[in-house]
Amino acid sequence: MSLDKKHLGSGRFIDANYPDYIVVRDVHEGDVKGKMELSRAVKIDEVEDLKPRRGIFKPMHEIFKKRKNKKVYRYANHYGEYVAYRIAEEIGVPACIVDMAKRKHTNKYTRKTSDIEGCISYIHKLKGDSVVSGITILEEYRREVLEKQGIQSNASDNNNIDTIIKAVDWYLRKKSDLSNQRINEILKSIVEMTVFDCAFGNSDRNDDNWGIWFKPNEEDVNQRVELYPTYDNERILGFMEREDVVKAILEDDDTIKRYHNETLLSRIGFPPKKEKVNYKDMIKYLLDNYPEWTRSGLDKVLNLREKDLEDILSECEGLEASYKMFSMAIFKDRRENIRQCLNEYYLKQSAKKYEGEEL
Ligand SMILES: Nc1ncnc2c1ncn2[C@@H]1O[C@H](COP(=O)(O)OP(=O)(O)O)[C@@H](O)[C@H]1O
Ligand SMILES: [Mg+2]
Repeated sequence: MSLDKKHLGSGRFIDANYPDYIVVRDVHEGDVKGKMELSRAVKIDEVEDLKPRRGIFKPMHEIFKKRKNKKVYRYANHYGEYVAYRIAEEIGVPACIVDMAKRKHTNKYTRKTSDIEGCISYIHKLKGDSVVSGITILEEYRREVLEKQGIQSNASDNNNIDTIIKAVDWYLRKKSDLSNQRINEILKSIVEMTVFDCAFGNSDRNDDNWGIWFKPNEEDVNQRVELYPTYDNERILGFMEREDVVKAILEDDDTIKRYHNETLLSRIGFPPKKEKVNYKDMIKYLLDNYPEWTRSGLDKVLNLREKDLEDILSECEGLEASYKMFSMAIFKDRRENIRQCLNEYYLKQSAKKYEGEEL
Protein backbone atom coordinates (compact mmCIF):
# COMPACT_ATOMS: atom_id res chain seq x y z
CA MET A 1 0.00 0.00 0.00
CA SER A 2 1.31 3.43 -0.73
CA LEU A 3 0.33 6.85 0.53
CA ASP A 4 -2.73 8.31 -1.08
CA LYS A 5 -1.14 11.26 -2.81
CA LYS A 6 -4.36 13.07 -3.67
CA HIS A 7 -4.93 14.70 -0.31
CA LEU A 8 -1.32 15.17 0.69
CA GLY A 9 1.26 17.84 0.05
CA SER A 10 -1.09 20.67 -0.94
CA GLY A 11 0.74 23.50 0.85
CA ARG A 12 -2.32 24.21 3.03
CA PHE A 13 -2.30 23.69 6.76
CA ILE A 14 -4.08 20.54 7.86
CA ASP A 15 -5.21 19.68 11.38
CA ALA A 16 -2.70 17.32 12.98
CA ASN A 17 -4.29 16.89 16.40
CA TYR A 18 -4.48 13.12 16.17
CA PRO A 19 -2.47 10.49 17.98
CA ASP A 20 -1.27 9.28 14.58
CA TYR A 21 1.37 11.95 14.45
CA ILE A 22 4.61 11.56 16.33
CA VAL A 23 5.96 14.87 17.59
CA VAL A 24 9.71 15.03 17.11
CA ARG A 25 10.47 18.32 18.74
CA ASP A 26 8.96 20.15 21.65
CA VAL A 27 8.23 23.77 21.22
CA HIS A 28 10.74 25.51 23.42
CA GLU A 29 9.45 27.94 25.98
CA GLY A 30 11.85 30.30 27.63
CA ASP A 31 14.95 32.16 26.74
CA VAL A 32 17.25 29.84 24.85
CA LYS A 33 19.93 32.40 24.08
CA GLY A 34 20.68 31.40 20.54
CA LYS A 35 20.13 27.69 21.05
CA MET A 36 17.53 25.95 18.91
CA GLU A 37 14.76 24.21 20.77
CA LEU A 38 15.71 20.86 22.12
CA SER A 39 15.29 18.02 19.77
CA ARG A 40 13.62 14.87 21.01
CA ALA A 41 15.68 12.50 18.96
CA VAL A 42 14.03 9.59 17.22
CA LYS A 43 16.38 7.34 15.35
CA ILE A 44 15.06 6.15 12.01
CA ASP A 45 15.96 2.57 12.92
CA GLU A 46 13.43 2.89 15.74
CA VAL A 47 10.54 4.60 13.98
CA GLU A 48 7.84 1.98 13.83
CA ASP A 49 5.31 0.86 11.28
CA LEU A 50 3.01 1.85 9.76
CA LYS A 51 -0.24 2.93 8.78
CA PRO A 52 -0.20 5.07 5.70
CA ARG A 53 -0.60 8.67 6.85
CA ARG A 54 1.28 8.32 10.06
CA GLY A 55 3.83 11.06 10.21
CA ILE A 56 6.33 13.04 12.18
CA PHE A 57 5.15 16.49 13.24
CA LYS A 58 7.90 19.10 13.20
CA PRO A 59 7.02 22.50 14.60
CA MET A 60 8.20 25.82 13.27
CA HIS A 61 11.24 27.08 15.15
CA GLU A 62 10.38 30.00 17.35
CA ILE A 63 12.28 31.64 20.14
CA PHE A 64 10.32 33.29 22.93
CA LYS A 65 11.38 35.86 25.48
CA LYS A 66 11.07 34.27 28.87
CA ARG A 67 9.54 36.94 31.06
CA LYS A 68 6.90 38.44 28.88
CA ASN A 69 6.59 35.26 26.90
CA LYS A 70 6.77 37.49 23.88
CA LYS A 71 7.74 36.00 20.56
CA VAL A 72 11.00 37.38 19.26
CA TYR A 73 12.17 35.28 16.37
CA ARG A 74 10.39 33.16 13.80
CA TYR A 75 11.85 30.75 11.28
CA ALA A 76 10.36 29.10 8.17
CA ASN A 77 11.90 25.65 8.59
CA HIS A 78 8.49 23.93 8.22
CA TYR A 79 8.01 25.54 4.80
CA GLY A 80 11.55 24.42 3.95
CA GLU A 81 10.54 20.81 4.54
CA TYR A 82 7.49 21.24 2.32
CA VAL A 83 9.29 23.08 -0.49
CA ALA A 84 12.07 20.47 -0.50
CA TYR A 85 9.52 17.68 -0.87
CA ARG A 86 7.74 19.49 -3.70
CA ILE A 87 10.98 20.22 -5.57
CA ALA A 88 12.07 16.61 -5.15
CA GLU A 89 8.70 15.40 -6.43
CA GLU A 90 8.88 17.74 -9.41
CA ILE A 91 12.33 16.54 -10.54
CA GLY A 92 12.03 12.86 -9.61
CA VAL A 93 14.23 12.55 -6.51
CA PRO A 94 12.51 10.44 -3.80
CA ALA A 95 11.52 12.46 -0.71
CA CYS A 96 8.95 11.78 2.00
CA ILE A 97 5.62 13.48 1.37
CA VAL A 98 5.08 16.57 3.52
CA ASP A 99 1.99 18.53 4.52
CA MET A 100 1.87 21.86 6.28
CA ALA A 101 0.08 21.29 9.59
CA LYS A 102 -1.12 22.85 12.82
CA ARG A 103 -1.29 21.27 16.25
CA LYS A 104 -2.66 22.42 19.59
CA HIS A 105 -0.03 23.20 22.18
CA THR A 106 -0.52 24.08 25.85
CA ASN A 107 1.99 26.43 27.40
CA LYS A 108 3.63 24.87 30.45
CA TYR A 109 3.51 28.05 32.51
CA THR A 110 0.35 29.88 31.51
CA ARG A 111 -1.67 26.75 30.55
CA LYS A 112 -2.91 28.71 27.56
CA THR A 113 -3.56 26.66 24.46
CA SER A 114 -2.62 27.85 21.02
CA ASP A 115 -2.09 26.51 17.52
CA ILE A 116 1.49 25.67 16.62
CA GLU A 117 2.46 25.81 12.97
CA GLY A 118 4.60 23.06 11.59
CA CYS A 119 4.67 20.32 9.02
CA ILE A 120 4.16 16.58 8.87
CA SER A 121 6.70 14.35 7.22
CA TYR A 122 4.81 11.16 6.37
CA ILE A 123 6.31 7.79 7.22
CA HIS A 124 6.58 5.69 4.09
CA LYS A 125 7.72 2.41 5.52
CA LEU A 126 5.07 -0.20 6.22
CA LYS A 127 4.74 -3.02 8.73
CA GLY A 128 7.55 -5.52 8.34
CA ASP A 129 9.88 -2.97 6.70
CA SER A 130 12.92 -1.54 8.37
CA VAL A 131 15.11 1.46 7.70
CA VAL A 132 18.76 1.38 8.67
CA SER A 133 20.24 4.83 9.19
CA GLY A 134 23.49 6.00 7.63
CA ILE A 135 25.10 6.17 11.05
CA THR A 136 24.29 2.51 11.79
CA ILE A 137 25.77 1.39 8.46
CA LEU A 138 28.89 3.52 8.78
CA GLU A 139 29.58 2.43 12.33
CA GLU A 140 29.27 -1.22 11.41
CA TYR A 141 31.57 -0.65 8.43
CA ARG A 142 34.10 1.09 10.62
CA ARG A 143 34.06 -1.70 13.21
CA GLU A 144 34.03 -4.65 10.85
CA VAL A 145 36.11 -3.42 7.93
CA LEU A 146 38.21 -0.32 8.59
CA GLU A 147 39.37 -1.22 12.11
CA LYS A 148 40.22 -4.78 11.08
CA GLN A 149 42.36 -3.43 8.24
CA GLY A 150 44.02 -0.98 10.63
CA ILE A 151 42.62 2.02 8.70
CA GLN A 152 42.26 5.15 10.80
CA SER A 153 38.87 6.83 10.60
CA ASN A 154 36.72 9.09 12.74
CA ALA A 155 33.17 10.41 12.91
CA SER A 156 33.75 12.89 10.06
CA ASP A 157 34.23 9.90 7.75
CA ASN A 158 30.50 9.25 8.23
CA ASN A 159 29.99 12.28 5.99
CA ASN A 160 32.73 11.49 3.50
CA ILE A 161 31.13 10.49 0.19
CA ASP A 162 33.82 7.92 -0.63
CA THR A 163 33.38 6.19 2.73
CA ILE A 164 29.58 6.36 2.43
CA ILE A 165 29.63 4.71 -1.02
CA LYS A 166 32.05 2.00 0.09
CA ALA A 167 30.14 1.35 3.33
CA VAL A 168 26.72 1.07 1.66
CA ASP A 169 28.15 -1.16 -1.08
CA TRP A 170 29.67 -3.45 1.58
CA TYR A 171 26.48 -3.42 3.67
CA LEU A 172 24.18 -4.29 0.77
CA ARG A 173 26.40 -7.15 -0.34
CA LYS A 174 26.38 -8.50 3.19
CA LYS A 175 22.68 -8.07 4.02
CA SER A 176 20.88 -8.66 0.74
CA ASP A 177 20.79 -10.70 -2.46
CA LEU A 178 20.59 -7.72 -4.78
CA SER A 179 22.13 -7.86 -8.22
CA ASN A 180 25.24 -5.76 -8.89
CA GLN A 181 23.17 -3.55 -11.11
CA ARG A 182 20.62 -2.90 -8.36
CA ILE A 183 23.36 -2.12 -5.84
CA ASN A 184 24.76 0.41 -8.28
CA GLU A 185 21.35 2.00 -8.67
CA ILE A 186 21.12 2.47 -4.90
CA LEU A 187 24.63 3.98 -4.76
CA LYS A 188 23.63 6.26 -7.63
CA SER A 189 20.60 7.47 -5.64
CA ILE A 190 22.96 8.46 -2.79
CA VAL A 191 25.03 10.56 -5.19
CA GLU A 192 21.83 12.07 -6.62
CA MET A 193 20.67 12.96 -3.10
CA THR A 194 24.02 14.72 -2.53
CA VAL A 195 23.65 16.62 -5.81
CA PHE A 196 20.12 17.64 -4.75
CA ASP A 197 21.46 18.97 -1.44
CA CYS A 198 24.16 20.96 -3.25
CA ALA A 199 21.75 22.42 -5.78
CA PHE A 200 19.21 23.55 -3.20
CA GLY A 201 21.50 24.43 -0.34
CA ASN A 202 20.51 21.74 2.16
CA SER A 203 23.31 21.87 4.68
CA ASP A 204 22.06 19.14 7.02
CA ARG A 205 22.43 15.73 5.34
CA ASN A 206 24.05 14.24 8.42
CA ASP A 207 24.37 10.47 8.93
CA ASP A 208 21.01 10.27 10.69
CA ASN A 209 19.20 12.15 7.94
CA TRP A 210 19.27 9.34 5.39
CA GLY A 211 18.78 5.60 5.56
CA ILE A 212 18.45 2.39 3.57
CA TRP A 213 14.94 0.93 3.34
CA PHE A 214 14.49 -2.85 3.55
CA LYS A 215 11.15 -4.24 2.33
CA PRO A 216 11.31 -8.02 2.86
CA ASN A 217 7.73 -8.51 1.68
CA GLU A 218 8.38 -7.35 -1.91
CA GLU A 219 8.15 -10.25 -4.34
CA ASP A 220 11.06 -9.20 -6.56
CA VAL A 221 14.37 -9.54 -4.69
CA ASN A 222 15.75 -6.46 -6.40
CA GLN A 223 12.84 -4.33 -5.21
CA ARG A 224 13.45 -5.28 -1.57
CA VAL A 225 15.96 -2.50 -0.92
CA GLU A 226 16.17 1.18 -1.79
CA LEU A 227 17.32 4.50 -0.43
CA TYR A 228 14.57 5.66 1.97
CA PRO A 229 12.93 8.83 0.57
CA THR A 230 14.74 11.82 2.06
CA TYR A 231 13.44 13.58 5.19
CA ASP A 232 14.71 16.46 7.33
CA ASN A 233 15.27 18.70 4.33
CA GLU A 234 14.09 21.81 6.17
CA ARG A 235 17.32 23.73 5.77
CA ILE A 236 17.11 24.09 2.02
CA LEU A 237 17.22 27.47 0.28
CA GLY A 238 17.74 29.47 3.48
CA PHE A 239 14.45 28.51 5.16
CA MET A 240 16.27 27.73 8.38
CA GLU A 241 17.39 31.32 8.73
CA ARG A 242 15.66 33.68 11.14
CA GLU A 243 13.08 35.98 9.58
CA ASP A 244 14.85 39.20 10.64
CA VAL A 245 18.20 37.85 9.38
CA VAL A 246 16.64 37.01 6.01
CA LYS A 247 15.30 40.55 5.70
CA ALA A 248 18.73 41.99 6.51
CA ILE A 249 20.60 39.75 4.05
CA LEU A 250 18.10 40.53 1.29
CA GLU A 251 19.14 44.15 1.25
CA ASP A 252 22.18 43.46 -0.89
CA ASP A 253 22.90 40.94 -3.68
CA ASP A 254 26.51 40.39 -2.65
CA THR A 255 25.47 39.57 0.90
CA ILE A 256 23.06 36.92 -0.40
CA LYS A 257 25.84 35.33 -2.46
CA ARG A 258 28.30 35.45 0.39
CA TYR A 259 25.71 34.11 2.82
CA HIS A 260 24.76 31.03 0.86
CA ASN A 261 28.27 30.26 -0.40
CA GLU A 262 29.70 30.36 3.10
CA THR A 263 26.78 29.12 5.19
CA LEU A 264 24.85 26.59 3.13
CA LEU A 265 27.66 24.06 2.87
CA SER A 266 27.31 20.48 1.75
CA ARG A 267 27.31 18.36 4.89
CA ILE A 268 28.52 15.41 2.82
CA GLY A 269 32.08 16.14 1.72
CA PHE A 270 35.24 14.54 0.38
CA PRO A 271 38.81 14.09 1.59
CA PRO A 272 40.82 15.67 3.06
CA LYS A 273 38.11 17.84 4.71
CA LYS A 274 35.52 15.05 4.55
CA GLU A 275 32.46 17.15 5.48
CA LYS A 276 30.97 20.64 5.30
CA VAL A 277 32.40 21.70 1.96
CA ASN A 278 31.40 24.33 -0.57
CA TYR A 279 28.73 23.02 -2.94
CA LYS A 280 30.69 23.85 -6.12
CA ASP A 281 33.74 21.98 -4.85
CA MET A 282 31.46 19.05 -3.99
CA ILE A 283 29.88 19.00 -7.46
CA LYS A 284 33.32 19.11 -9.10
CA TYR A 285 34.57 16.26 -6.93
CA LEU A 286 31.47 14.20 -7.69
CA LEU A 287 31.82 14.84 -11.43
CA ASP A 288 35.44 13.72 -11.37
CA ASN A 289 34.85 10.65 -9.21
CA TYR A 290 31.28 9.50 -9.90
CA PRO A 291 30.70 11.03 -13.35
CA GLU A 292 27.68 9.08 -14.58
CA TRP A 293 25.73 9.17 -11.34
CA THR A 294 26.51 12.87 -10.87
CA ARG A 295 25.47 13.79 -14.41
CA SER A 296 22.20 11.98 -13.86
CA GLY A 297 21.63 13.97 -10.63
CA LEU A 298 22.56 17.23 -12.36
CA ASP A 299 20.14 16.51 -15.22
CA LYS A 300 17.39 16.23 -12.64
CA VAL A 301 18.18 19.34 -10.61
CA LEU A 302 18.76 21.50 -13.68
CA ASN A 303 15.31 20.49 -14.87
CA LEU A 304 13.71 22.73 -12.25
CA ARG A 305 13.07 26.11 -13.83
CA GLU A 306 12.57 29.42 -12.04
CA LYS A 307 8.89 29.28 -12.89
CA ASP A 308 8.59 25.84 -11.25
CA LEU A 309 10.04 27.12 -7.99
CA GLU A 310 7.83 30.22 -8.13
CA ASP A 311 4.80 27.94 -8.50
CA ILE A 312 5.88 25.78 -5.56
CA LEU A 313 6.45 28.85 -3.38
CA SER A 314 3.05 30.22 -4.31
CA GLU A 315 1.46 27.03 -2.94
CA CYS A 316 2.78 27.95 0.52
CA GLU A 317 -0.14 29.49 2.35
CA GLY A 318 1.11 32.16 4.74
CA LEU A 319 4.80 32.10 3.79
CA GLU A 320 6.45 35.52 4.27
CA ALA A 321 7.39 37.27 1.01
CA SER A 322 10.97 37.79 2.21
CA TYR A 323 11.56 34.00 2.34
CA LYS A 324 10.20 33.67 -1.18
CA MET A 325 12.63 36.30 -2.46
CA PHE A 326 15.50 34.84 -0.47
CA SER A 327 15.02 31.28 -1.68
CA MET A 328 14.56 32.41 -5.30
CA ALA A 329 17.82 34.39 -5.14
CA ILE A 330 19.75 31.46 -3.68
CA PHE A 331 18.24 29.06 -6.22
CA LYS A 332 19.15 31.24 -9.23
CA ASP A 333 22.71 31.80 -8.11
CA ARG A 334 23.30 28.10 -7.38
CA ARG A 335 21.71 26.99 -10.62
CA GLU A 336 23.97 29.30 -12.61
CA ASN A 337 27.08 28.16 -10.75
CA ILE A 338 26.21 24.50 -11.07
CA ARG A 339 25.66 24.89 -14.79
CA GLN A 340 29.11 26.44 -14.96
CA CYS A 341 30.68 23.49 -13.09
CA LEU A 342 29.07 21.15 -15.63
CA ASN A 343 30.32 23.21 -18.60
CA GLU A 344 33.85 23.23 -17.19
CA TYR A 345 33.64 19.49 -16.75
CA TYR A 346 32.60 18.97 -20.39
CA LEU A 347 35.38 21.28 -21.62
CA LYS A 348 37.89 19.30 -19.58
CA GLN A 349 36.51 16.07 -21.01
CA SER A 350 36.77 17.24 -24.61
CA ALA A 351 40.30 18.60 -23.99
CA LYS A 352 41.27 15.16 -22.68
CA LYS A 353 39.76 13.47 -25.71
CA TYR A 354 41.62 15.86 -28.00
CA GLU A 355 44.91 15.16 -26.21
CA GLY A 356 44.25 11.46 -26.67
CA GLU A 357 43.76 11.91 -30.42
CA GLU A 358 46.97 13.91 -30.72
CA LEU A 359 48.99 11.08 -29.22
N1 LIG B 1 9.18 10.78 7.02
C1 LIG B 1 9.80 10.09 7.95
N2 LIG B 1 9.78 8.74 7.95
C2 LIG B 1 10.41 8.02 8.90
N3 LIG B 1 11.10 8.58 9.92
C3 LIG B 1 11.17 9.92 9.97
C4 LIG B 1 10.54 10.74 9.00
N4 LIG B 1 10.78 12.03 9.33
C5 LIG B 1 11.52 12.00 10.44
N5 LIG B 1 11.76 10.74 10.84
C6 LIG B 1 12.52 10.29 12.03
O1 LIG B 1 12.49 11.29 13.01
C7 LIG B 1 13.83 11.75 13.28
C8 LIG B 1 13.81 13.23 13.52
O2 LIG B 1 13.25 13.89 12.40
P1 LIG B 1 14.07 14.95 11.61
O3 LIG B 1 13.19 15.40 10.48
O4 LIG B 1 15.40 14.39 11.23
O5 LIG B 1 14.16 16.10 12.69
P2 LIG B 1 15.39 16.85 13.38
O6 LIG B 1 15.46 18.15 12.63
O7 LIG B 1 14.96 16.98 14.78
O8 LIG B 1 16.64 16.04 13.18
C9 LIG B 1 14.64 11.34 12.04
O9 LIG B 1 16.01 11.17 12.33
C10 LIG B 1 13.97 10.05 11.67
O10 LIG B 1 14.43 9.03 12.49
MG1 LIG C 1 17.36 14.98 11.55
